[in-house]
Amino acid sequence: MFRPSIKKMEPYTPGEQPGARERLIKLNTNENPYPPSPKVPRAITAAANEALRLYPAPRADMFVERASKLYGVPREMILAGNGSDELLSMIFRATLDRGDSVAYPTPTYSLYDTLAAIQEAKVLRFPFGPDFVVPLAALGRARARLTIICNPNSPSGSMTPVRALGGLARALRGRLLVIDEAYVDFADENALRLLKSHRNVVILRTLSKAFSLAGMRLGLAFAHREVIEELLKVKDSYNLSRIALAVGAAALSDPAWMRRNVERVKRTRAMVEKRLRKMGFEVPPSQANFVLARMPGHDLSGIARGLRRARVLVRYFSLPSLRDAIRISIGTPAEMAVLMRALEPLARSELAATRRSA
Ligand SMILES: Cc1ncc(COP(=O)(O)O)c(C=O)c1O
Repeated sequence: MFRPSIKKMEPYTPGEQPGARERLIKLNTNENPYPPSPKVPRAITAAANEALRLYPAPRADMFVERASKLYGVPREMILAGNGSDELLSMIFRATLDRGDSVAYPTPTYSLYDTLAAIQEAKVLRFPFGPDFVVPLAALGRARARLTIICNPNSPSGSMTPVRALGGLARALRGRLLVIDEAYVDFADENALRLLKSHRNVVILRTLSKAFSLAGMRLGLAFAHREVIEELLKVKDSYNLSRIALAVGAAALSDPAWMRRNVERVKRTRAMVEKRLRKMGFEVPPSQANFVLARMPGHDLSGIARGLRRARVLVRYFSLPSLRDAIRISIGTPAEMAVLMRALEPLARSELAATRRSA
């Protein structure tokens, strides 16, 4: 019934989404611990009316209009998606035939692997160097049909300077460079300015993280008009509902709310990084709303399970390169205090176990 490549591929595994009645502290999928702008529920109420019998605007007009104002990018250079995952899916479908190559540094967002498998594309993986430095020169030389940089990267939280990404865009000489900026609102700079000088750059944003709207599914792509025109050909006609469009417009009209929550998350992040290092973890400085805690030489699956028993969910990736790590989303200070209390004894006994065996 199915294409052999689909039968063969592994499905994407999202982080655990517990049931509504399970009382867990959820630090596994990088959601925002604070609620969305109060303008959001008002917009939902206002949009829940008789007009729902009509299809929504195919080009997401009201949402795109707001994005254009907020980010200073012309409307025809913006495409709205049902989350940035949908935009990634459109990009893969529009650019990659069977056997075409897609390149990205690893480890990174694992959905890229899934989307490549669907297209039967060849993945060129470029492992990060020490301290999560992106091998930019090698990526530039590879000149894959599609190159993706997740910046800040997940799960490391590390950031590649935007100037260096400009150099990569140039080296790719007309091949597409996607910069996935899902977490960029928590970082010190962003790549929007590259659109001025590079016609092969696509910048992806989401409202799932900084705008606290993971449940609503809203994403944005910024690129030159010719790129947007091609992506539109593979878009579902009505990919965002009327409610989603109203919510997106409302959230973007209240950036001060988002920035205040981002500042709170960044303050908590600094405190968490410090505490984790004191416990003996290696923590690369994060520019995102999560941190990667590593214990080189250890397998941290036991710690992840121990935290689960203490009703705290973190993300453990069963990949060889990440066995020594857990990724922890930044929650409220109270949630992080519960995490620390549960984690401290687990980290101590993990370290003691190696000292004994050494
Ligand atoms: C790097 C990265 N890109 C994109 C996404 C998808 O975001 P959205 O909720 O907008 O689909 C995520 C979600 O976790 C992510 O980590």
